[in-house]
Amino acid sequence: MLEERNESQADSVCASPDEQLVMVAESITSGDLILTPLQAVDADAMFVVLQDRELYSFTGGEPATIDALRARYARQAGGVSPDGSQLWLNWIIRMSDEPVGYVQATVAPRQGRVVAELAWVIGTQWQGRGLATRSALMMQTWLRDRGVDRFTASIHPQHAASASVAVWLGLQPSGESTDEGECIWRLP
Ligand SMILES: CC(C)(COP(=O)(O)OP(=O)(O)OC[C@H]1O[C@@H](n2cnc3c(N)ncnc32)[C@H](O)[C@@H]1OP(=O)(O)O)[C@@H](O)C(=O)NCCC(=O)NCCS
Repeated sequence: MLEERNESQADSVCASPDEQLVMVAESITSGDLILTPLQAVDADAMFVVLQDRELYSFTGGEPATIDALRARYARQAGGVSPDGSQLWLNWIIRMSDEPVGYVQATVAPRQGRVVAELAWVIGTQWQGRGLATRSALMMQTWLRDRGVDRFTASIHPQHAASASVAVWLGLQPSGESTDEGECIWRLP
């Protein structure tokens, strides 16, 4: 499920010789859009944004209860997986200060590279305005500037809007699929 990807897969990123990553999410601004590092207190505002069942059509799952969302955000706000092997970087997308969705990157070293698995969600009423594309590009640029040199995303084969976002990021279908049947997109 999308909201758990971060948990099954960090203000700046560097890989040290023992491949421990160090990175901390920062605010990223472009015009009327600002990506703010996810905090536990964002759960209440995001609860409303994430309520529409349509949001889960391609990823599975259902709207979280407020308690579940608060618990998830408390875990994700830590920025690191429990075993320390992955950075969990999450940003709330705000348009003119109003929360409208989120983007996330699960970052880990792999074979000498720093790889980010990306995901994006925009609340139903704000879709179709280019917000996912703009936000994902902002996140990708931020990650690239901090040494992330490989990007992936897992996308349902029939989810055209999500595939379009991936194309804007330069990702291409790899021909591989996840166990859940999603297509794995990659750059390069
Ligand atoms: C995928 C999602 C984030 C797109 O959000 P959005 O803000 O509406 O996306 P954008 O406005 O940036 O549009 C992205 C592209 O999708 C296209 N698009 C939008 N809706 C579409 C639709 N119903 N069918 C086909 N293409 C569509 C747009 O034309 C645009 O492509 P273009 O720039 O080449 O013209 C949004 O639909 C969503 O949150 N879905 C539920 C969560 C999800 O499944 N996330 C993906 C997990 S990785």
